[in-house]
Amino acid sequence: MLENSRVTEANQGEGMRTHYRTHTCGELSLENEGEPVVLAGWVANRRDMGPFVFLVLRDRYGTTQVVVEEPALVEAARSIPEESVIQVEGTVRRRPEKEIRPGPTGAIEVVARNLRLLNRTRPLPFAIRDDVEAFEETRLRWRFLDLRRPVMQRYLATRHRFIKAVRDFLDREGFLEIETPILTRSTPEGARDFLVPSRLHRGKFYALPQSPQLYKQILMVSGFDRYFQIARCFRDEDLRADRQPEFTQIDLEMSFVDMEDVLSLTERMMHHAFRAVGAELEIPLPRLTFEESMRRFGTDKPDLRISYPELVDLSPVLGGRGFRVVDGVLAEGGRAIGVFLPETFSRKEVDAFTRMARDFGAGGLLWARAEEGEWKTGPLAKWLDERVWDALGDVPRTGTLFVVADFSWLPHRILGEIRRRVALERGRLKEGFFGLWVTHFPILEWNEEEKRLEPAHHMFTQIVEEDLERFYGLREWLEPRMEALRAGDRKVLQEVETHLLRIRGKQYDLVINGWEVGSGSIRIHERRLQEAVMDLIGLSPEERERRFGFLLRVFEYGAPPHGGIAPGVDRIVALLVGAESIRDVIAFPKTTSAQALFEGAPSEVDPRQLQELGLRVEQEVEE
Ligand code: AMO
Repeated sequence: MLENSRVTEANQGEGMRTHYRTHTCGELSLENEGEPVVLAGWVANRRDMGPFVFLVLRDRYGTTQVVVEEPALVEAARSIPEESVIQVEGTVRRRPEKEIRPGPTGAIEVVARNLRLLNRTRPLPFAIRDDVEAFEETRLRWRFLDLRRPVMQRYLATRHRFIKAVRDFLDREGFLEIETPILTRSTPEGARDFLVPSRLHRGKFYALPQSPQLYKQILMVSGFDRYFQIARCFRDEDLRADRQPEFTQIDLEMSFVDMEDVLSLTERMMHHAFRAVGAELEIPLPRLTFEESMRRFGTDKPDLRISYPELVDLSPVLGGRGFRVVDGVLAEGGRAIGVFLPETFSRKEVDAFTRMARDFGAGGLLWARAEEGEWKTGPLAKWLDERVWDALGDVPRTGTLFVVADFSWLPHRILGEIRRRVALERGRLKEGFFGLWVTHFPILEWNEEEKRLEPAHHMFTQIVEEDLERFYGLREWLEPRMEALRAGDRKVLQEVETHLLRIRGKQYDLVINGWEVGSGSIRIHERRLQEAVMDLIGLSPEERERRFGFLLRVFEYGAPPHGGIAPGVDRIVALLVGAESIRDVIAFPKTTSAQALFEGAPSEVDPRQLQELGLRVEQEVEE
């Protein structure tokens, strides 16, 4: 998290002088001793000391203590409710020695000569303080007051500075900021679209963009070479702490580039923008392939702040010992994966992990506890010996080993999640920002629920050259396995997943502290390959033409090789300021049920509006 002191405001001096004030509330110091000044702001705090009254005046830039001593003013000062807006005329005075506080204005106070109530407030629903006690729902309902809290002002100032640094950087690197439409045709990023009915074309709809993906690719074909946009994106999906229905991306695209060009530009941009808000991101960032990331950390978003040992494939040392659970899985092509955590767990915690493993779909979770190199307790203990230590490598000799024997990435995912949860819960995290690139995702994934292939990122991702042949042969390769695959045969599923891993896309995710904060790829720029991908994910030629005909045509008119990325502003700024939710770094966010509580959206509309649009709302029938 950033230290507040490092996010300083530069806005001081003559430029801040207006009709209502000579200085801001964060500006005066001993240098101004004896000067007549006029301040304006909110009464953050009022203390009645009997013969005199202290008012702490607050604006965006800080606070200044005002002393009201003149008997004629004291009565007026007493009756001003906190959070009213006032203007104070007075003189800067040095505070008595024992009253001096740290901070910019802590050595002075302003002795009031005149007070003017600019606007009185009604009683507030909660106190305007950084450590606010109100529930988030109340805060969102009263967002204009919530945003008055200094911490929220700092968050939004950090956001501004971060975006500004990004803009400046990209401008210097030759990028053009180009706006793309908000009323558009549905863009295919996999989530549901927000639709806007057309009045002039009854029965037809615009879609709000899920991202400017297609437009930015088309701009490359038009020859703009380097495009960016601080782009608002809209997705009608289930919300979580790190997801909003409308959010902001640093959307960028470049021509005549391969992966490394985009990665190195993006990490330089991030490094620069982090610095601009007082944070450090060490570059170049490590690069891990998807496969390596899954193998070592059990996730495609590893949190490199965690220093626990990595996952280990224990199949060779656990197999063939007559341990039936393990041998059975290995015989069918599965694996026994382990992770050693130098921690002790209660029975209750182990039970909770076991339940989690079952929820993930595994048969169970094996474990054993070691003390100074000796395997002591746990169902796995009697199967373990010195050879396991060799396989585990350089790990402490006291702790707990968890093992899951199962198929595909399931063991990895479970153990990766245990490793992550324990590190987070027990605070075993390094300080600072730790980023990496996860690259070479498989181009296609098997969706077990819907029993079909789907793109791992989006369908425009270019395929690694040496995997192209395998890609073009995929349909034929799959054919004889389809029946078993649809029937849920685990061995075949494992075989298919392994095969798909060998058809890698030029895709990359930017991950910082375990959050996916950006995603992009080198794109397909040839019609033939694009059609082949669409074909494999099940788009019929008619559907392909109807939905993407305009893009496919563009590819036939001199489309250059191109690629790009879109880091998410909200997630990155939330990380930078240490906010728990991206809602805290968005001025007017939606709730997890996609509502705007303050202004009240979504709302019903006037029947006439509906009529003009040719729409009728069917009331939901209560069951
Ligand atoms: P993708 O869908 O992976 O890629 O999104 C890129 C980044 O946008 C942010 N993000 C979100 N932030 C807040 N709320 C959401 N609902 C949300 N969804 C996504 C994340 C994510 O990493 N067009 C491609 C990019 C490309 O290929 O260039 C795209 O949108 O930080």
